[in-house]
Order: sequence, then C-alpha cells, then structure tokens
Amino acid sequence: MKKKILEIKDLYVEYITEDGIVHAVNGLNLELEKGQTLGLVGETGAGKTTTVLSIMKLLPEQIGRITKGTILLDGNNITDLRETEMQKLRGNAVSMIFQDPMTSLNPVLSVGDQIAEVLELHQAELGKKRIDERVDEILDMVGLQKERKVEYPHQFSGGMKQRIVIAMALACEPKLLLADEPTTALDVTIQAQVLEMMNRLKDTFSTSMMLITHDLGVVAQTCDSVAIMYAGRVIEQGTLKDIYTAGRHHPYTIGLFNSIPDLTKDTKRLSPIKGLMPDPINLPNGCAFHPRCPECLDVCRYEMPEESCYGTHKIRCHLYK
Ligand SMILES: Nc1ncnc2c1ncn2[C@@H]1O[C@H](COP(=O)(O)OP(=O)(O)OP(=O)(O)O)[C@@H](O)[C@H]1O
Ligand SMILES: [Mg+2]
Repeated sequence: MKKKILEIKDLYVEYITEDGIVHAVNGLNLELEKGQTLGLVGETGAGKTTTVLSIMKLLPEQIGRITKGTILLDGNNITDLRETEMQKLRGNAVSMIFQDPMTSLNPVLSVGDQIAEVLELHQAELGKKRIDERVDEILDMVGLQKERKVEYPHQFSGGMKQRIVIAMALACEPKLLLADEPTTALDVTIQAQVLEMMNRLKDTFSTSMMLITHDLGVVAQTCDSVAIMYAGRVIEQGTLKDIYTAGRHHPYTIGLFNSIPDLTKDTKRLSPIKGLMPDPINLPNGCAFHPRCPECLDVCRYEMPEESCYGTHKIRCHLYK
C-alpha cells in the first residue's frame, strides 16, 4: 500500500458566531498519497478553506474549533498538537498558499527579505550568506529576476505576487502543499503559467499537494484524484478517471459538470444547480443536498447516506446503496 501524507478522519469543525454555531465541516474523510495531487472541489461555503485551515491549525482563535475527528500528517497525529510544536511544522512539513495572496505578503518588507525570513525561521543553520543565495535561487525557480528582490510587493503585478507567495510556500521544500485557489485571482494566461510552474516544482521536490478550486478544468489538468465537497462533507471522491469518466455519480457532481460548458456538445443553455447551499447554522436533516436534488428519495430527507465504494471511487448517496 502507498504511504499517505495526509489522512483526515471524521473531522468536524465549527465557528461560534452571534447568530449561532456554523457547522462548516461535518464528518469529513480525506486521504492523500505521497507525491500525489488531490483536487478539492465544491461551491462557495462548502468548507474547503476551513478544511485546510484545520490542517494548518490556523482556525481563528476563540471562534473556530475542531470538535471531533483526527488529522494525521505523514503518519503523525497533529489534531491536538500545541502551537509551539505546530510552528515547527508550518513551512517545513506543511505549507499553505492562501486564497488571497495579496494579504499574505507584508507590504513594508522587501520581497527578498520575506523569503529570507521563512528560511531563517526553519533553516537558520544555513547561515546568512547561503540564505541570500537561496533567495536568488528560489526567485529564479518561480521565474522572477533576482535583482528585483529589493522591491516591495506593490511593485509587482498580481501574477508576480502569486509567484512570490508560491516561492515562500516552497522555500523550505514542504512535504505537503495546501493551495487554496492559488490562481482564481489571475487572468487565464497567467493562471496557466502558474499552474504549469506549480506542477513542475511539485515534481522537482516530490511535494504532495491539495489543490482547492472551483474550476473542474484546472482539476483535470493538475490532479491525480478529486474530492467533491458539499456542506462540509465529501460526497464523492475518486481518481481523475473515476470522476470524469465513470458511469455513476452523485447528483451534485452531475450538477457541477452540467454547469460548465461542454465544447463537444451543441448546448443551447447551461443548467446550473437550482437553489443555494443550505444555511450552515441550520443544516437540513438527512443528506444536506436533498432540498436541491433532482433525484431526491424519501429516505434522503431523514437519513444520512453511507459511502458506497466501487474500488477507488466512493459516492455518498442513497441512489447507490
Ligand atoms: N471566521 C468565520 N466565522 C464564522 N463563520 C465562518 C468563518 N469562516 C468561515 N465561516 C463559514 O464557514 C462555512 C465554510 O466556509 P469556508 O471558507 O471554509 O468555505 P469555502 O468552501 O472555502 O468557500 P469559498 O469557495 O467561497 O472560498 C461558510 O458558511 C462560512 O460562512
Ligand atoms: Mg475558501
């Protein structure tokens, strides 16, 4: 059996708000094999960012908390790790590219100093001269001129800033990279370049990656396996082949695919999924997708479906008992 870099078992995460308890992640199971890329897909509010923040242990203090479940990183249980221990792992064992790259850069520090800071924190033994050289190498690796390291974030374009953030995330060659919509803010050509670059770097360092995206096209180009998330749960997962070519799917997955244009078919109009994500403070009983599901059965209204397995392909839906 292949080694797992990440295993999440029955994870529950909630946020405490004035309006009530937001159930953001509700019994999530996920696995990622070493060296592979997993695409995490789902509508806005599905709990994707919450999932990666839980792995990084960066949920907002006092507000967000893990109430149940375990997270194993490279075989080690990090669920209850103390902040001091977790600090040693962040950047080193696991690194994250945030959904909004512009906010993860410090506006008053030069780009070179920011990359050096990551190295000083985790690889101080390199010494100042070698860290300086590493900054140049890392900038070169992401296609930026090393002469520009003295410049500040605002002097770079959006695509360049994203490259800097990726450079920082990869500086210490983490075993696992969590990329939260790393290309959503970029135009299509830059998006393609950044994805290509991330793929290349991932191969060079044999990094495992979790890629969060809304874009099923990006998943097809980049991922080995896919997990589709709805209301804080994975409702379907499998290899790229399982998700894109298998005969049976969760009605939500079918809905997601129907809402993107298919160039091989003469479709007059797209058919988006009707309705909205349920209110995470008051999740419906049974399958959370049932109020929007065109295939809804009676049982779906009161009973949470179990997962049905077809080899690597798993679907959580009463249609496939
Ligand atoms: N700090 C917070 N306080 C209260 N609720 C939160 C907080 N952060 C997220 N939530 C809620 O938790 C749920 C999951 O949010 P999350 O950010 O994980 O979704 P997402 O799948 O990443 O969505 P998107 O695609 O828009 O980034 C949402 O209902 C959201 O409103
Ligand atoms: Mg998000």
